[in-house]
Amino acid sequence: MTRPVLIFDSGIGGLSVLRHVRAQQPDLDLVYVADHDGFSYSDWVEADLVAHVVELMGGLIEAHDPRAVVIACNTASTLVLPALREQFRVPFVGTVPAIKPAARETRSGLVSVLATPGTVKRDYTFDLIRQFAPDIAITLVGARGLSHLAERVLAGEDVPEEAIRAEIAPVFVERDGVRTDTVVLACTHYPFLQGVFERIAPWSVTWIDPAPAIARRLSTLIMDAPGGEGTTRYLSTKPPEAFPAGFDASGRWERV
Ligand code: DGL
Repeated sequence: MTRPVLIFDSGIGGLSVLRHVRAQQPDLDLVYVADHDGFSYSDWVEADLVAHVVELMGGLIEAHDPRAVVIACNTASTLVLPALREQFRVPFVGTVPAIKPAARETRSGLVSVLATPGTVKRDYTFDLIRQFAPDIAITLVGARGLSHLAERVLAGEDVPEEAIRAEIAPVFVERDGVRTDTVVLACTHYPFLQGVFERIAPWSVTWIDPAPAIARRLSTLIMDAPGGEGTTRYLSTKPPEAFPAGFDASGRWERV
């Protein structure tokens, strides 16, 4: 095994990034880390979340000696990246709301950003809007329960569609005869629900998942790295027996 790339999220959402990394670089050795013990990152006091992720990352870097780390979490990236880059020498790739591509994509000028309540209140998110979408009407939707619902869906539970509909309803804005036509999936959990979103949406929109672009950015960053064996390890800060049924069905999750 070569030095792996570490992909990190508060839960299983980052697997939506991992699948694109794997598709683009089949040989890469990967270690996926879900901080289930800290999930959800949305409600953390910001200073506490920075300290928590920096501490956890210190242990992970020491244990796995990654060649690069992907923070596959908007709620963490929009806050913690500067502290991580200051503290560690390993290159970090972040995941932040895809406001720039959304501003290019929209025809109606109405764009919604679907994220956790943590991400929509970050200064980083407001800066992205100021910088890349000053003339676009952006609706920020902090969906309180949606990442929890995605965790449950991926754990194999039946989640009532009504619960998902209620979370995404504010995304669809109709104003002066124009409608939202572009929605940024600004939480890595949400691409796993995109099929449901499309089915229950009151009208059709373009959903923007930044994961392919993140995987491309990673490829550029580690272009000269030697090919690996294409291994993937799945680690969680919670013991596998504490996972809801479904997560450990394959028996592949290990404790950090
Ligand atoms: N998947 C994470 C994100 O991209 C956050 C999920 C959570 O911690 O609630 O924002």
